[in-house]
Order: sequence, then C-alpha cells, then structure tokens
Amino acid sequence: MRTPELKRGGVLEPAGDLRDGTAPTVSRRGFLKLGLTLAGVVGFLGADGRMPPPAPHRTGRANAHVSPAVLELNDGWEYGRLEEPGLWPYRGPSRYEEAVLPHTVVRLSWCDWRPERWQHLWVYRREVIADGNALAGRVFVEFAGILTGALLYVNGRFAGRHLGGYVPFEREITRFLRPGKNELAVVVDARWGQNVPPDRPRPYGPASIDYWQPGGIYREAYLRVYPQTFLAYPFARPADVLDPARRRLEVECLIDSARRTPSPVHVRAELLQGGSVISESTVRLPGLEPGRRRVHLTLASLGGVKLWDVRSPNLYDVALSLILAGRVVHRLQTRTGFREARFTREGFFLNGRRLKLFGLNRHQFYPYVGGAMPARVQRRDAEILKRELNCNMVRCSHYPQSEAFLDACDELGLMVWEEAPGWDYIGDASWRGYVLRDVRRMILRDRNHPSIVIWGTRLNETRNDPALYRRTREIARDLDGSRPTTGAVKRAPEESGGIKESRKGREEDPYSTRSFAEDVFSFNDYTRKYVRSRTGNFRLPVLRPPRVDMPYLVSEAIGAIVGPHFYRRIDTGRVQQEQAILHAAVHDRAASDERYCGLLAWSAFDYPSGHGYSFRGVKWTGVCDVFRVPKPGAAFYRAQVDPSVRPVIEPAFYWDFGPYAPPGGPGRKSTIWSNCERLEVFVGGRHFASLLPDRADFPHLEYPPFVVDLTVDGSGYPELRIDGYVRGRRVITRRFSSDPSGDRLLLKLDDDRLLADGSDMTRAYFQVVDRYGAPRYRSSGRVYLHLSGPALLVGDNPFDLGANGGTGAVWIRSKKGASGRVRLVARCPLLGSSSASLYVLPAG
Ligand code: GAL
Repeated sequence: MRTPELKRGGVLEPAGDLRDGTAPTVSRRGFLKLGLTLAGVVGFLGADGRMPPPAPHRTGRANAHVSPAVLELNDGWEYGRLEEPGLWPYRGPSRYEEAVLPHTVVRLSWCDWRPERWQHLWVYRREVIADGNALAGRVFVEFAGILTGALLYVNGRFAGRHLGGYVPFEREITRFLRPGKNELAVVVDARWGQNVPPDRPRPYGPASIDYWQPGGIYREAYLRVYPQTFLAYPFARPADVLDPARRRLEVECLIDSARRTPSPVHVRAELLQGGSVISESTVRLPGLEPGRRRVHLTLASLGGVKLWDVRSPNLYDVALSLILAGRVVHRLQTRTGFREARFTREGFFLNGRRLKLFGLNRHQFYPYVGGAMPARVQRRDAEILKRELNCNMVRCSHYPQSEAFLDACDELGLMVWEEAPGWDYIGDASWRGYVLRDVRRMILRDRNHPSIVIWGTRLNETRNDPALYRRTREIARDLDGSRPTTGAVKRAPEESGGIKESRKGREEDPYSTRSFAEDVFSFNDYTRKYVRSRTGNFRLPVLRPPRVDMPYLVSEAIGAIVGPHFYRRIDTGRVQQEQAILHAAVHDRAASDERYCGLLAWSAFDYPSGHGYSFRGVKWTGVCDVFRVPKPGAAFYRAQVDPSVRPVIEPAFYWDFGPYAPPGGPGRKSTIWSNCERLEVFVGGRHFASLLPDRADFPHLEYPPFVVDLTVDGSGYPELRIDGYVRGRRVITRRFSSDPSGDRLLLKLDDDRLLADGSDMTRAYFQVVDRYGAPRYRSSGRVYLHLSGPALLVGDNPFDLGANGGTGAVWIRSKKGASGRVRLVARCPLLGSSSASLYVLPAG
C-alpha cells in the first residue's frame, strides 16, 4: 500500500482518500472496553476446521449468509467528530461518545433539520479481540449502510474505502488482524456533494435533491468468520413456476477459495420447509485453485410446493453446504418463494392471475434518527403498508432500503420495486461507475427476495443516457435475468416527442423517453389536468393514457400536485379530506383500463426534505405523517379491504365544531371511506342519512367513498354515529364525539416487548382524540414524557403537539444487557396523562 504524500503543513485529507483509494499506514494504540471476542466466534471452526450446524438467525436477516459465524457488530462503538480532519489518523477526535448501531451522528428533532450539523467527518471506533484460532479463518466486516463515505482502518492501517450510502460496504480484514486486541475504526464522511449517487457536486447544496440524508453508520454492521474456502452470493431462481411438472429451482453461488483445495469438493443444495428437506442436489467438483468459481445446481420435483402470493406468501429456505473431504466446512442459507410476476401490455399478472398493482412510494427516513432505525421499526413500515393501507406493492424510492423491510415484504406478501440510488441527476464518468456498482450490489444483495418483482435500473427522473442504462440493464440480466427492469420518467413520450421548445429554440429534450429501452415504462404522472366528477361533487385529476407499445405502470402520482398544499394536520379540513379523494381518483383511473399495470402513488409517509415545497424541513405528501400515523388522506387506502377481513369506517373529516373548525361542521361534501355496502348515519341520536357508495364518481374502485352533506349546527355538541351494513347485516358501528370535554391523550406502543441488545426500538405514538378514539382537529399543547425502566427515550420531550396538529411519536430504545419493565407516561396539562408499558427481554 502506498503512503500518500503529506500535503502542505503535514495535512492529510481523508476525503481525498475516499476517491483515490490510498491512505496512510500508521499504527495506533489499542484502547477501549472489551468488545466482541473473535475467539468465541472462531471456536466454531474447531481445531479440525469442522463445522457445526448453522448458527441461528441472530442477525434477523432472512436473506443473508448464515455462515458458521455471523455476529452483529452493533454495540460497543464510540464516535466523535474529527475537528481537525487533516490530521487523521495521527490525531483523532478529542471527545468520544458511546454509539450503538444503527446510528446517526447527530440527534435530530422530527422537523427543521439543519444539514450543516451532520456535514463533517466523524470517527467511529471499536475493539475486537481475536485469538490465534481466529486467524485460521477469513474474517470479513460488513457495514450495511453508511452515509456517505467511509474509510476503514484496522489497527491504524487503512483497510478499505467505500462511497455511497445505500449498498453494503464489505471488506476482508484477515490480514490486518493480530492476536489479542484489535481496533476497528471508520472515518465517516457525512458531507454533502460527494461524487456518488444521489449526490451532485457543489455548488448544488443538499436541498437540491428531495430528501435529507443525515450521516452515520446508519445500518447494522456484521462480522463474519469463514473458512479458507467458503460459499458466497447464493442465488435461488425459481423457474417454470406455473408448471408443476417442470417447476424447479436454479441455484447458483460462488466458491471463494484462498488456497488450493484438493478434490473432492462437493456443494449440496437443499430446499427446506420447516426444517425438512423437500428436494436436494449435490454437485462434485475437481479440486479448486485459489480464486472464485461459480457453481450451479438444479432442484427439481417441486410439484408440491405452494406458490408465493400476495394473499399467502409461502416461503422456503434454501441451504447450501460446502463439503471438503466429506466434511461440511461452510453452510449458508437464503430464502425463496415461488411466484411468476409478469408485466405485459395488457396489465400485470401474478401467478397467471391478473392483479392491479396498488401501492405507494416509501422513503426510509424517520424522525429523530434519520435512516438509523433497527429491523423491528423497518418491518413495521411494511406492516403499515400491507395491513393498514392495504397496498399490494411498494416502491422503494429512491434507493435500496433496509433488508429487514424487504424480509417483512416477503413475509407479508407485499410486492416491491427496488431501485438504485439517484434523483434527477447524472454525473461524470466516475459517478456513473458508482451507478453500475450500485445496481450490481443491489441485485446481489436482494435477488432472493420473492417480493421484489422489478428492478429500477434507470435512476429516478433522470435524463436519458442510453449507454449507461444499457449497461445497468445488462448487469440486471446477468445477475438475475428473472425480473424486468424499469425506471421512473417524468415526460411521457408524446409530451416531448424528443424535441423541446426553449428560449434557445427547438432542441433535443434530454428527458425524451422515445428511446426508453427498459422492459416496463414507468411514468411519474403529475399531470395537472382535472375533470368534474359525474355528480359534480369533485374535481378529479386525470392520468395520461397508458402507452400501448409497452407494459405501463404509474410510478408516482398526486404528491402535492395541487400545491403548495402540504397535507398537514394543521391545514384546513377541506384540504386534508381532498388528499384522500385525489389518491382515490388516480387509483380509480388506473383500475379503469387493463393496460395500466397499476399505480404507486406519492407517498406513503411524510419525509424530511429541504427541497421545493417543503415546510419546516418536511415534505407533507404522505398519507401518513413522518411518525407513520395515518392522516385523513389515508382513509381511502384503509377502506380498500374485504369487509370479511376487517370492516372499516373512516371519515376523511374531523367531527369537530371547535375553534378552528369551519362554521357548520365538516360541510356539504363530506366523505366517509368504508368497505360496507350501506351506511346509516345518525347525528345527535337521530337518523340523519342512509348512504350508498359513490359509484358514479369512482366506478372502478372496489370500495368508493360515501358522500354526505354534514352541514349541521354543532352548538349542542351532537354525536355522530355511523353503522355499516354488509348483506343486510350490521358489521360495524363507529361513534364520534364533538364534545371536547371527553377529549383525552391516546398513547400507544407498537410492541409490548423489546430485546435488550441496545438497538431494538419501538414507537410510542400519542394523539389527542375524542372519547371514542377519533383524532381531534388541530390540537395544540405540549406533551411531557416520562420513561422509567431499562430503556431510553428517542425523541422530543416535551413534544409540541400543535406543530403536527395533535399527533406525535417518540421511540423507545433498549439498553444493552438491561432487561425489565419499562413504563412511559405521557402528560398533557389540559388532557391529563396516559401510560403504557412493555418488557425488555434479555437478548439471548
Ligand atoms: C417527484 C419525484 C419524487 C418527489 C416528488 C415530490 O417528481 O420523483 O422523488 O420528489 O416529485 O412530491
């Protein structure tokens, strides 16, 4: 390794090293508490290199390597800001604080983020201890996500660099380790404008793209110990899924061999269900030379397997074993599901059945911690999308998202579009090189997820770059080949015709989509055209007609098209109610024509942003807020479920006659979203209206809204009662109180238990509600939180309810090794207090 020259005054610039791949070699003193003991890990290997059965899923990653030893490396870190960047690694931060991964370098509020707070260089360091035995194996460290650049040092020696926040950074560190104490250190470059997607170089600032990206090691880290020869990059590709006689699993992986390995070498693949082997196959190889080699096996006789579907997401495990001289030396496991997903010019088909894609876009950023939420919280987003918003698909806009989120999508039957990082910009040759790297790493990481049905190999709303996108498609074909490719564009072909009129005259439109070469044409349809609905009640947005020459999907719609409306709880009731109508209208259009494969609207959740129509550093386009609590705009989604699963009545208005409410209450065209066939409405105890769904305005929705004139005199605080009927039977009743004297503060925890691993978290959300639990309009005041027991509160305390219209949340985080009962009390001076508790269990 070359030692870089000292710059003027002996200053080294680590950020430069991120780009040129060189770094200083300096030894540093060892320090710190006892961390993870590699000796314990490598004890697995045994003196004779023999492997025990695979380790249990400690990592919670269903599609990861389950190698002889995969250890989480999340706790025991400390971090500090590198005040004198140029002197690293001669001089580090003067002060370190403890850090547990996932981690963001600054504590944030839920809004008003200031990027200059995180835009620095930071150092994370940690000790690992290796005994001599550890060094008999091959040791890899993996960081699942670091925003945005990273330099890895082991014992002060440069061990690797990585640029880009959304794909894993993995390095073999065997040769840097020595027996006993070792120091891992990561210099994290959290500054904006690095030459990697989605960033764009200065002078553009961080608000030039649509989402803030707070820095840190914001995903999990792992340490793996492999034998000298091991298996990597498993891929189990189901083939001929719909033909039970020919159905099979094409399995491949790489053998990575550090040394010559004598014959015989066997690789065995097994398809497992609940631990029993359904099918197996073994391949015999001649001895191996050092290097990598691809192995391929076929598992057949799979007529009896159950398909993966949105309703019954059946999953299977695939175990691969490497057998040297009759002994299993490495075993890894991944997950698979058998399904056929086809995008055609006549629509989308799952397992041969037509299915309209119905969903939303999701950003991964959260209040307080940026992207740094652990698996449990990531999984919760998938649950909200599938179980509360009834989506069958989500678009991971605009980067590969957490593996825990994708695991949950597999398990819940939520289909996924995953795409490489990028937003409306293509950079220079080096930047484009990272696009290729990102596509490759995304597919290698995630190709075993049955939920993923399409790859975004074209970056969101970028100009056309035929050479770049030909290469990204080739990578997808080479590494997967079973999924189509796409990319969201912002100009329909007929819109530009390839030629743009500008002040300079007629010129080639760089966003022209005439030469769109991906398999599925995906359009971000923010067409600002409206029509009066048939009843005259609504102004409804229209969609562009589908392209007839290609499979066609609407990848975004609505957002804040009637902007600058923000869809905040502090906006007028009319605006909030309209969000549901607009979303319903575009889904209705998409359902009207079989050639639309479906529609993924913008967006599931509000997200932190300094771009365009943001307010207080938040984009308010979500049908749920940043805390993941549904807004009135979500009422449409919440009702789109069979009433036998869950009868729903969700008004998109507030039953409120308080100081902020318009006179006369919710008003003439109030909408109630329900999956019932008929609603009976009672006001003040008296029958007020019988309602049928508005099929005239929304003829293609399974569950259209019910429209009612609710202009009433609210002075006596009348109660609203709605009864829902299906096939003549009352299946649900909901009540709403306009009397504020019964208002209270609702407090709810998503989980009743956490693990004492120091990373695990759960949400505690609070909302001002009426006596029946319905949200009150524009409530204000402060919530004071008090947590007792072995856990930490992550969030604003006190919390200003008025800023988010009466709703908020904090998260509860476990402490490493501390178990017991945790109690949270939320107190609001005007409403009293509420409490909730959970147990933190030993992490095992
Ligand atoms: C779209 C873009 C999204 C988001 C949205 C704003 O054009 O693709 O990422 O920025 O606008 O509402």
